[in-house]
Amino acid sequence: MMPPARCGSSIFLLLISICTQISGVGAFVGVNIGTQVINMPSATDVVATLKARQITYVRLFDADRRMLNALSNSGIEVMVGVTNEEVLGIGQSSSTAAAWVNKNVAAYLPTTNITAIAVGSEVLTSIPNAAPVLVPAMNYLHRALVASNLNFQVKVSSPQSMDMIPRYFPPSTANFNSTWNSTMYQFLQFLKNTGSFYMLNAYPYYGYIKGNGIFPIDFALFKQLPLNKQIVDSNTLLHYNSMFDTMVDAAYYSIEAYNFSGIPVIVTESGWPWFGGAKEPDATIDNAAIYGNNLIERVLNDSGPPSHPEMPISTYIYELFNEDKLPGPISEKNWGFLFTNGSAVYSLGLSTSDSSNVTDSSSGVGLFCVAKPDADPTALKSGLDWACGQGMANCSNIQDGQPCYEPNNIYNHSSYAYNDYFHRTISSGGTCDFSGTATTTSVDPKIISSDFFTGYGSCIFAGSSITNTSRAFTPPSGFGPPSSSGGGSNLRVSEFTFLSLALLIVLVQL
Ligand SMILES: *[C@@H]1O[C@H](CO)[C@@H](O)[C@H](O)[C@H]1NC(C)=O
Ligand SMILES: *[C@@H]1O[C@H](CO)[C@@H](O)[C@H](O)[C@H]1NC(C)=O
Ligand SMILES: *[C@@H]1O[C@H](CO)[C@@H](O)[C@H](O)[C@H]1NC(C)=O
Ligand SMILES: *[C@@H]1O[C@H](CO)[C@@H](O)[C@H](O)[C@H]1NC(C)=O
Ligand SMILES: *[C@@H]1O[C@H](CO)[C@@H](O)[C@H](O)[C@H]1NC(C)=O
Ligand SMILES: *[C@@H]1O[C@H](CO)[C@@H](O)[C@H](O)[C@H]1NC(C)=O
Ligand SMILES: *[C@@H]1O[C@H](CO)[C@@H](O)[C@H](O)[C@H]1NC(C)=O
Ligand SMILES: *[C@@H]1O[C@H](CO)[C@@H](O)[C@H](O)[C@H]1NC(C)=O
Ligand SMILES: *[C@@H]1O[C@H](CO)[C@@H](O)[C@H](O)[C@H]1NC(C)=O
Ligand SMILES: *[C@@H]1O[C@H](CO)[C@@H](O)[C@H](O)[C@H]1NC(C)=O
Repeated sequence: MMPPARCGSSIFLLLISICTQISGVGAFVGVNIGTQVINMPSATDVVATLKARQITYVRLFDADRRMLNALSNSGIEVMVGVTNEEVLGIGQSSSTAAAWVNKNVAAYLPTTNITAIAVGSEVLTSIPNAAPVLVPAMNYLHRALVASNLNFQVKVSSPQSMDMIPRYFPPSTANFNSTWNSTMYQFLQFLKNTGSFYMLNAYPYYGYIKGNGIFPIDFALFKQLPLNKQIVDSNTLLHYNSMFDTMVDAAYYSIEAYNFSGIPVIVTESGWPWFGGAKEPDATIDNAAIYGNNLIERVLNDSGPPSHPEMPISTYIYELFNEDKLPGPISEKNWGFLFTNGSAVYSLGLSTSDSSNVTDSSSGVGLFCVAKPDADPTALKSGLDWACGQGMANCSNIQDGQPCYEPNNIYNHSSYAYNDYFHRTISSGGTCDFSGTATTTSVDPKIISSDFFTGYGSCIFAGSSITNTSRAFTPPSGFGPPSSSGGGSNLRVSEFTFLSLALLIVLVQL
């Protein structure tokens, strides 16, 4: 799970060692799986859900034995976590670190594809007293991996809060809070020396909330801003299309302010809560769906932030299930994009910049032709036969044993065939009618028809934005509040950030 970098350009000779490990790989979208879940499904069910959803990258906050066993031979890449409680012990004892690696990593490789260890969660900002042991802990873990000859497969890093960067706008002047000068220097030195990456928890939700209106919500939701309100870094004149990009760039500039380069940033947590209390009006399903879908689209477009367009931003969405056991405001418990029964809280993975306008009618991506729910079954059967015959739709996927056979009913089979015909012919004027038994929709039938515990998930309809990527597609989620401290109830951005932000936003008059 090395953070993907574009390796085509020979300018980036320094990145060669990184590139050799990640060549040809673009950004991926993964998912955080929290631990504070009421009614957590069994590990086997969770993994079945992940597979059905084609989620191929996950981050665990611990090294749960059952999850790691269930993930074996799954094709899913796994980031395991050292909990904040464990960091202290590991940072003070190399043998504790070695035992941790043996028990939680070496014991599972290679069948469970563990590719990274996240050491703690926002350690510096949530348990500052552990700062002196953070880098030693990472070093000990790394040495234990070296001893097992696993250091090339498994990278060690530690997710950092945006709170490490008090002023992140304009990104070009961002810097780590100097309280942690020496720790950050050692931290970056470690990442550089071991070919690892900077793990960033980036929450435009908190950036927006804490901004008290300085930022338009559209900026946080990746929506296009009017031309006269583009957000520009006045030092570099780089345009920022989203708060997410400013956060990632702030991390790059902060790293560079310490004179380090070539350390890729990956986002270990990002998401949006879908429900909140009376004073959390922005935590809505609509916003969460828009944020999540746009985040996925943003990440999978493979471009980096404006200052490093060649560095794709692999991102783990926060998070799979709600963590109801977390303390804090109501929104804190409502970041999960799936219910624990496996059904979706809202649809993710659509190519959309706005939940109400999800279609791209020119290519048909995001537009589906399906059977009307009230159509006469006999008429549907005729339409199905026509589509698969004369219409030359590819109906192999709805044959017995194939991915779209279930649910085995005339509506689903007709929908599949109609949609396949529609997408084959849309560019030459094909329509979605079938004697009035068909209709178009922007809701991906894969998503609505899937019961992710029974695995219809590999049935993908033509035109799904999921079709076009072999990489993990994911639903959204939020920030992985450390199990014990540093919970998401802490707003991530200081007031000060926004005072300076207010002064520095440039309104470009075009
Ligand atoms: C594990 O993940 C790495 C990194 O993407 C990949 O190269 C390797 O093939 C995977 N191993 C297995 C057994 O799937
Ligand atoms: C830096 O961190 C310290 C310790 O948390 C905090 O007291 C201080 O306000 C922070 N500085 C800025 C500029 O935010
Ligand atoms: C941290 O680094 C900054 C800039 O390099 C410097 O101004 C500051 O004095 C340093 N602080 C400490 C505590 O070393
Ligand atoms: C980074 O390098 C510049 C130029 O060599 C130097 O002035 C600056 O002090 C260095 N900063 C740090 C944090 O080492
Ligand atoms: C990818 O996203 C970046 C950042 O939002 C944007 O500038 C760029 O135009 C996008 N590229 C494509 C091909 O959509
Ligand atoms: C799954 O759980 C949610 C929330 O409890 C519920 O609304 C939904 O109907 C359930 N779905 C199924 C298929 O049981
Ligand atoms: C969606 O697109 C339609 C047609 O282009 C437009 O009229 C409508 O205002 C859009 N809705 C939103 C919420 O942007
Ligand atoms: C029909 O779809 C199947 C499954 O996706 C694929 O393997 C096959 O090549 C397709 N056939 C044609 C003629 O496109
Ligand atoms: C598939 O069948 C289910 C009932 O099993 C129905 O609710 C759903 O709407 C159907 N999907 C399509 C795309 O026709
Ligand atoms: C998939 O993406 C490629 C390049 O991004 C594009 O050329 C192609 O048309 C897309 N295919 C579909 C079915 O959307």
